[in-house]
Amino acid sequence: MPDAVIAATGLYNPPFTLSNAELVETFNAYVARFNAANAEAIAAGEVEALIGSSVEFIEKASGIKSRYVVDKTGLVDPEVMRPSIPERPDSEISILAEIAVAAARQAIEAWGKPVSRIGAVICAASNMQRAYPAMAIEVQQALGIDGFAFDMNVACSSATFGIKTAADYIATGSVDAVLMVNPEITSGHLNFRDRDSHFIFGDVATAVIVERADEAEGGWDILGTRLKTQFSNNIRNNFGFLNRGAPEGADKADKLFVQEGRKVFREVVPMVSDMIVEHARDLGVEPTSLKRLWLHQANINMNEMIGRRVLGRDPAPGENVIILDEYANTSSAGSIIAFHKANDGFAAGDLGLICSFGAGYSAGTVFVRKR
Ligand code: COA
Repeated sequence: MPDAVIAATGLYNPPFTLSNAELVETFNAYVARFNAANAEAIAAGEVEALIGSSVEFIEKASGIKSRYVVDKTGLVDPEVMRPSIPERPDSEISILAEIAVAAARQAIEAWGKPVSRIGAVICAASNMQRAYPAMAIEVQQALGIDGFAFDMNVACSSATFGIKTAADYIATGSVDAVLMVNPEITSGHLNFRDRDSHFIFGDVATAVIVERADEAEGGWDILGTRLKTQFSNNIRNNFGFLNRGAPEGADKADKLFVQEGRKVFREVVPMVSDMIVEHARDLGVEPTSLKRLWLHQANINMNEMIGRRVLGRDPAPGENVIILDEYANTSSAGSIIAFHKANDGFAAGDLGLICSFGAGYSAGTVFVRKR
């Protein structure tokens, strides 16, 4: 059975950056307006006053300093506090497919081979533009790729689930190469009026080309892939096509991202650390021999704790790659951004780990070896 290789990656950064200071200024302006508008009800104890957010808290609790967004105007307007993304006619490419194509073009250029070698496109992301037709098919058409394409959603774990799916297709001989894209406009699912989570996410798109090892030049051997899911309500988004059947719930906060952050932290850290260590052991890899960890970019404290548990010591600078200070949590794309931006200095045979985790709960590990 053919082995699979990560042959190339691509990254698209949206045009706008949004700092914590800008986010907090908008949030606090919203809080001041809300409290002023509800002053009497608050004084009578009928409505709870809102409390402001702070840059210091955000940086300390999450490590996030800034994020990229596809639209900024709506996000810095306390009257709006959601991205302003006009509808496009069906004759135009949708915005999620557009940013996926931008990342894919970069990966294809780095790969240097014709797209006719690609037999499948997988769009693996947390939120799709629409129910159907699939984003992946739109990307496939925009790039002139034959074969088949489909969307899959495993929330923040989508990329590793996508890489495993691609590697399995290659192993079974279904296709010779797969393009996997992770377009994330997370600003669309984030509740910018929620103090606990308004700072968590950012927008981005990444792309990965997975190819048959016997046809690949360079790249990264995929040594092993493993997936795990375990049901939890602690990260949830109840937005869906049946919402219109219950219009009374349309404006409830659960139609956007909601989480029990503390519980997620407590439960996901051991689940993911144990999974990495067990998968490494089964592959005959000593975790301390991993030159680099490219983890899902959730939260600095969570990532550092997983890094320490896996390596059995404090990771050296750059060993446990952190990009969330610049990008925030970009859901499925986080571990791929880290891999894309920080895979230099590897000699043939050096090992690394791509790992993602998130809602579901879900987690995926992809051990790679430089060719
Ligand atoms: N600004 C200022 N203070 C804030 C605040 C904000 N935006 N949000 C919360 N606080 C306050 C709280 O009111 C609380 O105050 P108190 O101690 O006086 O009660 C304090 O900060 C701690 O709040 P808490 O919610 O317990 O913070 P935390 O340290 O758990 O950090 C998260 C919150 C969400 C950053 C953290 O739990 C987390 O990252 N968890 C993992 C979640 C995750 O990564 N999910 C995605 C996985 S894919």
